[in-house]
Amino acid sequence: MNATKTEATTRRLDGRKAARRILEELEERIAGLARQGLVPGLAAVLVGEDPASRLYVGSKTRTCRKLALHSRLVELPDSVTTPELLAVIGELNRDDEIDGILVQLPLPAGIDTATVQAAVHPAKDVDGFHPLNAGKLAQGRPGLVPCTPLGIVRLLERERVPVEGAHAVIVGRSNIVGKPLAQLLLAGHATVTVCHSRTRRLEEVCRSADILVAAVGRPALVGRDFLSPGVVVVDVGVNRLEDREQVRRLFGDDSPRLESFDRRGSALVGDVHPRAPRGVASAVTPVPGGVGPLTIAMLMSNTVQACESRRAASRRRPSEG
Ligand code: GUN
Repeated sequence: MNATKTEATTRRLDGRKAARRILEELEERIAGLARQGLVPGLAAVLVGEDPASRLYVGSKTRTCRKLALHSRLVELPDSVTTPELLAVIGELNRDDEIDGILVQLPLPAGIDTATVQAAVHPAKDVDGFHPLNAGKLAQGRPGLVPCTPLGIVRLLERERVPVEGAHAVIVGRSNIVGKPLAQLLLAGHATVTVCHSRTRRLEEVCRSADILVAAVGRPALVGRDFLSPGVVVVDVGVNRLEDREQVRRLFGDDSPRLESFDRRGSALVGDVHPRAPRGVASAVTPVPGGVGPLTIAMLMSNTVQACESRRAASRRRPSEG
């Protein structure tokens, strides 16, 4: 379909670099709080032994340490009950040193996730999952906004990807990414289409996108026939593959990724086929090193914001929080 076109270069949108800049900018705000004797504090609640969750939480607490933020890890066994978890969250809500509370998802099957999310005090809800914050976002009012969508929007801004008037197609309607991202892009005056597992003619809808966001957790779902020339592709998927043949098929025989698989026994792939955007898309976020680092940077930013609104504001003039 695009054979007669000159092969366009596809820019990599470097999330690591953007995240570093965001964290550098945060340092000034953290220093400002320190002058008032305040250290923003983040509590991460990790339930069970999911290795991916453990990795994510580890990386969040390491970033806190680098920024000299106070961090606390609360580890609970798989067997914890919803009331026990609610009691832990209640304590963190009352703890003045804690500005942000993050309950790592997914929670074990027996836990009522929605009730747990609604128990986090909205002013400490640095994940932006509390219904009050979700409602504020839907109404375009200030509040705490989920980190991954916020990171995506910041990246698009930094990379000067025009959002106003653009058609943004989001594949995935989760409360963590798809729905809040749709609200943010709407607020930025994009025309937004949200697709999901029952969307008809998915490829065709995706081909009408100026900005295509894949956030479904299906390895390499988005192939070349989803892309039109010049599209900006944002790949939110982080899928760990353990089947060598699948990795070989996706990345190719001579790819460094296959070599790395042979050393580690697994490889990460996004929701976008790794070879699909090349020469067609104008820009793409890599996996890893795209959206992931931004999610963590925005978590730090939300924690600082929560501290500024909740504690610094009570000492000085109220800020716009
Ligand atoms: N699991 C996957 N993404 C997220 C996230 O953004 N926040 C939390 N708490 N858990 C997650």
